[in-house]
Amino acid sequence: MEASALTMTTELRAKLANILARKSSRAGEFTLSFEPAVFPLNLRAQFTGYVRIALEIGCGWGEYTRAWAAMHPQTLVVALEKKLARVLSSSRTQKQERIENIRYMVLDVAWFFEGVFAPGQFDEITINFPDPWPKARHHKHRFVSPDFAASLAHIAALQGKLTFATDNYAYAREALTVFEASPMWQNDNGSFIVRSEISGRPQSYFETLHRAEGALIYFLQFSRQELRS
Ligand SMILES: C[S@@+](CC[C@H](N)C(=O)[O-])C[C@H]1O[C@@H](n2cnc3c(N)ncnc32)[C@H](O)[C@@H]1O
Repeated sequence: MEASALTMTTELRAKLANILARKSSRAGEFTLSFEPAVFPLNLRAQFTGYVRIALEIGCGWGEYTRAWAAMHPQTLVVALEKKLARVLSSSRTQKQERIENIRYMVLDVAWFFEGVFAPGQFDEITINFPDPWPKARHHKHRFVSPDFAASLAHIAALQGKLTFATDNYAYAREALTVFEASPMWQNDNGSFIVRSEISGRPQSYFETLHRAEGALIYFLQFSRQELRS
C-alpha cells in the first residue's frame, strides 16, 4: 500500500487516523493523545512548565531519548515512533527511571505529519539513524525529502536546531543535499560539512551498534533561518 500524504484519499486518511488513535490509546501513561480532532497540537500552551520543547522522530526503544531528557529536565521531549511495542517499552523504563519530561506519540510520519503540530514550537528536532532503505526501489520510504524539510521548518522555532544522524553515507549525502537546498535551514558546521561526533551527546542504540562495527557516523546540524522576502 502506498500511503503518501499527497495521494491519500480522505477515506484512507480517516482509516489510518483510526488505527493510530487506537494504538496511541494503548501506549501507556506518557503518551500524547492521537486524535486528529485536536490537531494541530499546541504543546507550548499545553505544557507551560517547560522552558524548551524538543522533538525526536523514530525514537525506537528510547535509549537516546531518555538519556537526553534526563540531562535536560527543563525541556519537554516529544518522541514519535511508529511501533507501539517500542513506545511501551520506553515508557515503562522511563517510569522506572523516574523521568518526567518525555511524551510519546505512536505516529507513522509517512502517514501523518503535516498539521499535527502547531507552527514554530520545537527548539530541537532530532532524527537518529532513520531506516536507510539502501535498495534504490525502497528509497521512497526514506523520510528526508524537500517537502519533509519544509514541514520540519514549519514546526521549528526560529534558530531551532535540527540534528540528523546516520551511518549510511548515501543517506547522509542525500539529507545534506536536501537541507542545504532549503532556504529555511542553515548548516551550523559550514556548507556541506558534517561531524563525526558531538561531545557530551548520549548514544542511541543504533549509534552504539554501528560504532561497535567500526562504522563512521555522520551528524548533520542545521538551524532554522528566518526567511527574507
Ligand atoms: C533504525 S531505528 C533507529 C532507532 C533509534 N533512533 C536509534 O538510533 O537507536 C529507526 C526507528 O524509526 C522508526 N520509524 C521508521 N519509520 C518511521 C515512520 N515513518 N514514522 C515513525 N517512526 C518510524 C522505526 O520503527 C525504528 O524504531
